[in-house]
Amino acid sequence: MIYPKTVAVLIFLLNFLCTTNCQLIISQVPPASTDQAIDDWTEDHYIFYNTDVSKLNLLFVHLDGSYGIPGIAQKYLTFAANVGFHVVNLRYPNSWTVNDLCRTSEDEYCFSNLRMETLIGDNKTSEVNITRSNSIENRLIKLLQYLHSEDSEEGWDLYFDGDNIVWDKLGFSGHSQGAGHASFIGYQHNVHTVLNFASPADYSVKYLQVAPWLSEEPQTTADHFLGFGHLRDQIVGWDFLKLVFSDYLQLSQFGEEICVDNNTSPYSNSHMLFTDCEPSGSDNYHGSIINDKHTPLDDNDDPILSDTWIYLLTKNLDNYNTPTPTATPNPNTSNAGSFSFNSFMILFTSLFGLCLFF
Ligand SMILES: *[C@@H]1O[C@H](CO)[C@@H](O)[C@H](O)[C@H]1NC(C)=O
Ligand SMILES: *[C@@H]1O[C@H](CO)[C@@H](O)[C@H](O)[C@H]1NC(C)=O
Ligand SMILES: *[C@@H]1O[C@H](CO)[C@@H](O)[C@H](O)[C@H]1NC(C)=O
Ligand SMILES: *[C@@H]1O[C@H](CO)[C@@H](O)[C@H](O)[C@H]1NC(C)=O
Repeated sequence: MIYPKTVAVLIFLLNFLCTTNCQLIISQVPPASTDQAIDDWTEDHYIFYNTDVSKLNLLFVHLDGSYGIPGIAQKYLTFAANVGFHVVNLRYPNSWTVNDLCRTSEDEYCFSNLRMETLIGDNKTSEVNITRSNSIENRLIKLLQYLHSEDSEEGWDLYFDGDNIVWDKLGFSGHSQGAGHASFIGYQHNVHTVLNFASPADYSVKYLQVAPWLSEEPQTTADHFLGFGHLRDQIVGWDFLKLVFSDYLQLSQFGEEICVDNNTSPYSNSHMLFTDCEPSGSDNYHGSIINDKHTPLDDNDDPILSDTWIYLLTKNLDNYNTPTPTATPNPNTSNAGSFSFNSFMILFTSLFGLCLFF
């Protein structure tokens, strides 16, 4: 019986390789340490991945809403990591609301100009001044190059080629302003998934129209877009959001909108989901669908929306079997936090290896 012994040896080898670095990794990287020319919006990027699950070899980039700073949606992003994605919660220029800058603008293309300037750093609008260095693209490329230089084994180089992003290995999710950017990126590039939390909502009260970019032909096909909102969102009303999802992102072709509170995953495979859940500790409906501070928890302190998050994150993966979520995300975990569980897993797999061996 050579086979079980081989397996056992492999398990032992894996355990030796896996003494400090297993399980969920959450780390922080200051943007300026990836590129000194990044001189504004300088708070840390957050990185999430799980070394104990099979790698999907896909990256999810999450963009917070207006004024949001990475680290505010760690529960959701931990589920993304536990599914097998590499995850980056990117710091980017967001110290305004896009609607405040563009809603009444004379420039009919203010929304797309502003989003393009944020993405690539070209001077497209006088509403903001975003250099190429401070743009989303440069931040992301420099971060991926940095992560690869720190750990050449982890596979970060799958996601860039020289100074270019390998778009089709990336998915984007975003909340509010960040969802507008996630969709905008999905319109500009063919990416593997676009997840929209509580936006896009680009609407001009000057021209009484949804921003023209939302009527263009996206590079990412509609089946790779999904949207999620709150029925009582006071910032982006659900009726309007549903209209953008159904008629602009063209998601109604995958079935009508589904309430996740009285349905279970896979929600009739709908691409338009909503909740009427009670936010945690406030009436922040807008934030409750994704951010740690407001998302509701069950009696075990697990997010009640986790099945919905996992559905959204995995909808576009072929033959993906929805896993039972592993450890409950701890919002404060850094590498050290996972150690005891980690040690347990090493002991467990060692014993398992011994059983096979003898
Ligand atoms: C951006 O372009 C506008 C004209 O299109 C110009 O007025 C403005 O000074 C430029 N901004 C910068 C930072 O170069
Ligand atoms: C952008 O930079 C230009 C040139 O330095 C300056 O005149 C303008 O006020 C700036 N605009 C904003 C919105 O910061
Ligand atoms: C599910 O909840 C939604 C929103 O509260 C409601 O409109 C719908 O009627 C409910 N469906 C069922 C089958 O109870
Ligand atoms: C996270 O850390 C902060 C600051 O150290 C602390 O105030 C907070 O209680 C911690 N939260 C949890 C859930 O451990």
